[in-house]
Amino acid sequence: MFTNAIVRTPGRSIVEGLSDSKTLGLPNYEQAIIQHQSYIDVLTKCGLDVLVLEPCEEYPDSTFVEDVALITPNCVIITRPGAPSRRGEVHEIEFVLKQKFNNIEAIEAPGTIEGGDIMMVGDHYYIGLSERTNIEGAKQIIQILTKYGMSGSTISLKKVLHLKTGLSYLKENNLVVCGEFIKDSSLGGYNPIEIPEKESYAANCIWVNESVIIPLGYPTTKQRIKNAGYPVIETDVTEFQKLDGGLSCLSLRY
Ligand code: GLY
Repeated sequence: MFTNAIVRTPGRSIVEGLSDSKTLGLPNYEQAIIQHQSYIDVLTKCGLDVLVLEPCEEYPDSTFVEDVALITPNCVIITRPGAPSRRGEVHEIEFVLKQKFNNIEAIEAPGTIEGGDIMMVGDHYYIGLSERTNIEGAKQIIQILTKYGMSGSTISLKKVLHLKTGLSYLKENNLVVCGEFIKDSSLGGYNPIEIPEKESYAANCIWVNESVIIPLGYPTTKQRIKNAGYPVIETDVTEFQKLDGGLSCLSLRY
């Protein structure tokens, strides 16, 4: 069960956020604010107490709070984003988390890791080796997890931004999988819920207290997750998709 979430309201600078998309265009700030509020409302409906942080204009991608910290039951780990323009975001989140948690650890140079590359499955954490997360960052985080009685292992990825761009763990051994992860032998022990390529954006979804939150507009994904026995809640996050951001990136849940 999760009881809390931390989110950060997008700033007007969101239009300058990182994006690989050639076709989706720039996010609309006003629309992003509306979608962000709906996202908060959905988390609240799922029983979470949501801490809403002020916008941080200096960092256009700072609404994607998941990338800058990992909150585990035993410790908090401040990451070190692989994207240089996002590195300063860690000081903003560290300030907040230090007021709430003990056992704060941090990834150090030359390690890089972003939370979108970390998938929790109970007390095991899969770490995606991506353009943003390097082997040194993965080694450091696995060492920290081990120190606090948890474990970690790596998965290499080639085609998507983050590990959770194409994978989401839904509890009860159910794993949403898409694209390059469908045939990944290190994920063979799970019940796969396969997402077709044309709905790949919806592979980033989040389990929150028995429900699964998915982006609006992906009917096959919705049906497959429903068939696996979960109530599905849809929310519109198109403005964040324009910056390669998924549902999970918008919150830290604990
Ligand atoms: N725009 C989110 C990211 O690339 O990190």
